[in-house]
Amino acid sequence: MKSIKVGIAGLGTVGSGTVNVLKRNAGEIARRVGQPIEIAHIGARRDNPACDITGIRVSRDVFDVANDPDVDILVELIGGTDVARELVLTAIGNGKHIVTANKALIAEHGNEIFLAAQEHGVDVAFEAAVAGGIPILKALGEGLAANHINWVAGIINGTGNYILTEMEQGARGFDEVLAEAQALGYAEADPTFDVEGVDAAHKLTILASIAFGIPLQFSKVYMEGISRITIEDVNSAAQFGYRIKHLGIAKDTGNGIELRVHPTLIPQEIMLAAVNGVMNAVMIDGDAVGPTLYYGAGAGAEPTASAVVADIIELGRELTVDHHERVPYLGFHTDQMSDEPV
Ligand code: HSE
Repeated sequence: MKSIKVGIAGLGTVGSGTVNVLKRNAGEIARRVGQPIEIAHIGARRDNPACDITGIRVSRDVFDVANDPDVDILVELIGGTDVARELVLTAIGNGKHIVTANKALIAEHGNEIFLAAQEHGVDVAFEAAVAGGIPILKALGEGLAANHINWVAGIINGTGNYILTEMEQGARGFDEVLAEAQALGYAEADPTFDVEGVDAAHKLTILASIAFGIPLQFSKVYMEGISRITIEDVNSAAQFGYRIKHLGIAKDTGNGIELRVHPTLIPQEIMLAAVNGVMNAVMIDGDAVGPTLYYGAGAGAEPTASAVVADIIELGRELTVDHHERVPYLGFHTDQMSDEPV
């Protein structure tokens, strides 16, 4: 039977989540794509007990996956920028479509990667790079495509929000909560990216590029993290009716686009103030639609895998030859239709 063949590079938190979601929901995914998605090859330095990869070809060198002629879609989940950039460019050169959850890669090397993809006629999908499981890029790039976007503002780092929430609710110190976020698999390999605003700045760079049609300009983001916030700050804010939230804000000032990430005092009655733990929330204000709000888990294995697999499905649908036979979004094929009651 024909299938779409996926190669997964990286078997950490998100990689194992992706394997588990692809396996668990294989039937529904095949129905939505029009043919099965097969994990044909995994590249990982070591196995991960969080997922069962029995029967799948495994290489210790991720470039073996990028160079595997059987692979249609390379799923880059190794993180970082240097090897990931080379890996993705190699796969693109080999004519493979790309799915990545790597915000640093897209924010810092996206312009180069998209150009290479265009030259080779392949797609690069990166929904999982921003706000974990919330389909925020599709909302912004497709659902709100009619609008002039006035501003985008949100809590876009789950680890930072987890730390602030726990400090407030449990009156626990910064270091203790950060260690917990790391153990839960929320934090970046280098957690200073989370607490100094770098990760949020990467995500804001991507959001702004889609919202305003500007090139990816990570170096233009004003960046301030949460590492200097104390329990006393959090408590004082509460006494005055505020909560401290770390926000990413991209705004059309009428005189250019302002890009900034920093801690912000938010009145307790505003919805963003009620976003706790690893949850993310993004507000988008469009000239036609007005303000809109999107909420969901911003990090973690399966929430992020949800976005990764959605991108695989979208590319899989494009690779499914009989376009006219597909019924977009209803999730069945004309040849699967029947008059039987469901
Ligand atoms: N470290 C990131 C976060 C992971 O905490 O939001 C998801 O991008």
